[in-house]
Amino acid sequence: MKKLLDLITEEVVKAFVACGYEREYGKVTLSNRPDLCEYQCNGSMAGAKKYHCAPIQIATKVVEELQKSAVFEEALAVNPGFINLKVSASFVQNYLREMLADERLGCEKAAEPKTMIIDYGGPNVAKPLHVGHLRSAIIGESVKRLGRFVGHRVLGDIHLGDWGLQMGLIITELKKRKPDLPYFDESFAGAYPKEAPFTISELEEIYPAASKRSEKDEAYKEEAMEATYLVQHGHRGYQAVLRHILEVSVADLKKNYANLQVEFDLWKGESDAQPYIPGLVAELKEKGFAYESEGALVVDVKEDTDTKEVPPCMILKSDGASLYTTTDLATIVERMKLYHPDEIVYVVDKRQEMHFVQVFRCARRTGLVESETGLRFLGFGTMNGTDGKPFKTREGGVMRLEHLIADINEEMYRKIVENSEGEIPEEEARETARIVGLSAIKYGDLSNQASKDYVFDVERFTSFEGNTGPYILYTIVRIKSILNKYREMGFEPEDGAIGMPKGETQKSLMLRLARFNGAVENAFEELAPHKICAYIYELANGFNKFYHETKILKEEDESTREGLIAVSLLTERVLETCIGILGFGAPERM
Ligand code: ARG
Repeated sequence: MKKLLDLITEEVVKAFVACGYEREYGKVTLSNRPDLCEYQCNGSMAGAKKYHCAPIQIATKVVEELQKSAVFEEALAVNPGFINLKVSASFVQNYLREMLADERLGCEKAAEPKTMIIDYGGPNVAKPLHVGHLRSAIIGESVKRLGRFVGHRVLGDIHLGDWGLQMGLIITELKKRKPDLPYFDESFAGAYPKEAPFTISELEEIYPAASKRSEKDEAYKEEAMEATYLVQHGHRGYQAVLRHILEVSVADLKKNYANLQVEFDLWKGESDAQPYIPGLVAELKEKGFAYESEGALVVDVKEDTDTKEVPPCMILKSDGASLYTTTDLATIVERMKLYHPDEIVYVVDKRQEMHFVQVFRCARRTGLVESETGLRFLGFGTMNGTDGKPFKTREGGVMRLEHLIADINEEMYRKIVENSEGEIPEEEARETARIVGLSAIKYGDLSNQASKDYVFDVERFTSFEGNTGPYILYTIVRIKSILNKYREMGFEPEDGAIGMPKGETQKSLMLRLARFNGAVENAFEELAPHKICAYIYELANGFNKFYHETKILKEEDESTREGLIAVSLLTERVLETCIGILGFGAPERM
């Protein structure tokens, strides 16, 4: 379906043209004075220069023409030359009827679907997930769902950090603890055990222990670096340990991400890109892009317009080792070869921005991607505690994700029990707390522009009032309950029943509903889930005001009642679709 704003603009453009003016002056925007009108057109102001007359003369002429239009209930020329518009009740009614009958609620699928890869999550194997990984998971998942909803082919790739010193550290520590394992027997030629020699909790203890020891013990660190080199260069036993680390870690990660309703299509890691490195290095040298500088191999990526220094992109260190940049470039080569994406989006902490500037420029300059291929950095800010400092546990340690989720769920459970006055049985209340708790976490994050830092405030995020996930869910549950009661009365909500808006509040709700496709389109263009949040917050407010002012089920006139029910149904569908895009669901009651 065309966007409501486009239909309105077309109508105004027609009037401008009929009066002998250029089409460009007929642009309509949402009113910035909602007390006066719903939409406005300021084109007469610009047109006045061109047509050498007062703006109000143009506005008056156009408004006269607009009186013939069925789209508007009111069109006024206002000094010095604004056109204030109110759309007609039947126009909104028809638009919403069509929307409710459409399974995509009026949102058209992309005419030319693109293949997109979203690089998000990025946890480091063998290290517990902490809140630092939360934002990438939440934002990336939503961007992925948004792209899919718009009709693109979107692949989410977790891009595991599985290729660093942490692997060598774990191997070294394991060797000290269990030297008799066959992985450390250089003469062992048999098949290694299938079962990993550690559990996830052991693994999570081994890594920090090894990391701590290496900081004080030079020889130990040397050993870990040696082990890292060996595992990266084909040591049979170490590679078997690496596989165990991956297995155990990935199984645990899958469980944790599933709790967050985050799903990846690709579980690739930095290690998967390594086979592409030799070819990449050779190509960059051959084509003359890479040169030696102080022993290292680098590619220049600065541009004349830079206001800040962009250092050369390092490809190999002087000892021949590859770097984070090398891995990301090789991953681009791999992705182009395997998936041929039109765009790759990186949802990563914004403090890594310079790294991506270097990687993107290098990839472009050296032709690793085609000129049309998009490389987009979606950098996010820090999640802070209520003290304004990076989020920590009460004891000041790194907060593990599981604990954060447990804290929220507990608070949610308390509120749900309190709210229902003990009417909801324990088990259901726990399950509901999980669903609502997830909305609190995700909405709390997504409602902020991604690039900004934000304060994670358990008290505020779990509140049923204000701009929060639970408030949105509460609104959905409220509508579900109205619809259920309606069904209990023996009726079925009808798609075609939407009536003419009666009164300002209902009309304003209906106009907000009509903006759904525009909101989605806009959010996708900017890859900005916060725009979906802003939209549903307004919509939920619009519905709740309508709910408080209107008798819905008690309305006596049957067709009016059907109309009110249909508007409620549409609101529920739009809200549910939006929270699906944001990555959470609603309970039946709360
Ligand atoms: N593992 C990295 C980290 O924890 C994030 C990876 C981001 N993605 C990428 N393609 N570099 O910092």
